[in-house]
Amino acid sequence: MILTVTLNPSVDRTLFVARLSPHETNRVTKTETDAGGKGVNAARVLKELGQEVCAAGFLGGGPGAFVRSVLDREGVSHSFVEVGGDTRLNVLIEEESGGPPTTLNERGPEIRNEEWEALRASVVAVSKEARAVVFGGSVPPGLPPSAIEELLRAVRRDSLLVAVDCEGDALRLAIDERPDIIKPNGSEASALLGLSVSTPSEAAEAARRLLDMGVGSPIVSIGALGAVVATMDGAWFAKPPRIEARSTIGSGDSLLAGYVCGVLDGLSPAESLRLGTAAGAATAMTSGAEIGRRDTIRSLVGRVTIENV
Ligand SMILES: Nc1ncnc2c1ncn2[C@@H]1O[C@H](COP(=O)(O)OP(=O)(O)OP(=O)(O)O)[C@@H](O)[C@H]1O
Ligand SMILES: [Mg+2]
Repeated sequence: MILTVTLNPSVDRTLFVARLSPHETNRVTKTETDAGGKGVNAARVLKELGQEVCAAGFLGGGPGAFVRSVLDREGVSHSFVEVGGDTRLNVLIEEESGGPPTTLNERGPEIRNEEWEALRASVVAVSKEARAVVFGGSVPPGLPPSAIEELLRAVRRDSLLVAVDCEGDALRLAIDERPDIIKPNGSEASALLGLSVSTPSEAAEAARRLLDMGVGSPIVSIGALGAVVATMDGAWFAKPPRIEARSTIGSGDSLLAGYVCGVLDGLSPAESLRLGTAAGAATAMTSGAEIGRRDTIRSLVGRVTIENV
């Protein structure tokens, strides 16, 4: 079983407009509502890939109940701590032009101390049955940036694979715990390392630096260009096939989920990156916060190219 931990999940409401005109009344042509948050997305992709998963974190109020209903519908087991505040609502505005969406992300509910204690106890308990734990997304108000680092320390044991996808101070602190896998995108890696990270060779350099900082297999993704993984045994660049991208929201989470799935199934780092890249591309083909599905992922795997870097 793979445990995913999302401290600040969301309900993602996508509004489709012909063209967004600020300060004017905009006509919405279609809406989609989906569960979101990096760990929640990763859990759904892992389930699509046939893994047994348990999604954990904080949920509250009507939006929290909605997230649970989406997971139930997809057969993803979950073990969330119910909180007093409401799970946040993120609004995504997509234009017909197909450009990147405009997103409005709420901060999320304030977490009380007893809610944090309950989460920590539940994550530690469930992690005992897990082969891997994936931590994804931002830290909600009321918790310090060290929250993910604390959880990493609490679950850590030999043979448990731990992966982290967060940014800023939370990522910086998590790296001190030497996680097995992290997956910053170009701008997250750039903010962390103070390097420009937008080309494959820059991504390879960033991944090597993160390896030197003690991360087992850092993956640095650069959107449609692909992703690099660095390990003690070498580094590989994966280039996704050319696809028609509709919304890349969740692509990074899908890449991480595919990589973790590959590693747990005994694939090499390069082949795990291939599966992750196919999952990222499959999610980029879906609209709004929707994730890529099994058949699309499987059909893209053979079209990913891998090279040593
Ligand atoms: N337009 C695209 N075409 C093909 N593949 C894509 C595209 N966008 C993303 N991908 C795939 O998804 C992976 C992750 O994308 P990206 O680097 O944008 O992650 P991210 O910024 O962390 O995303 P998020 O945090 O929203 O999930 C890429 O490495 C690539 O394999
Ligand atoms: Mg990301």
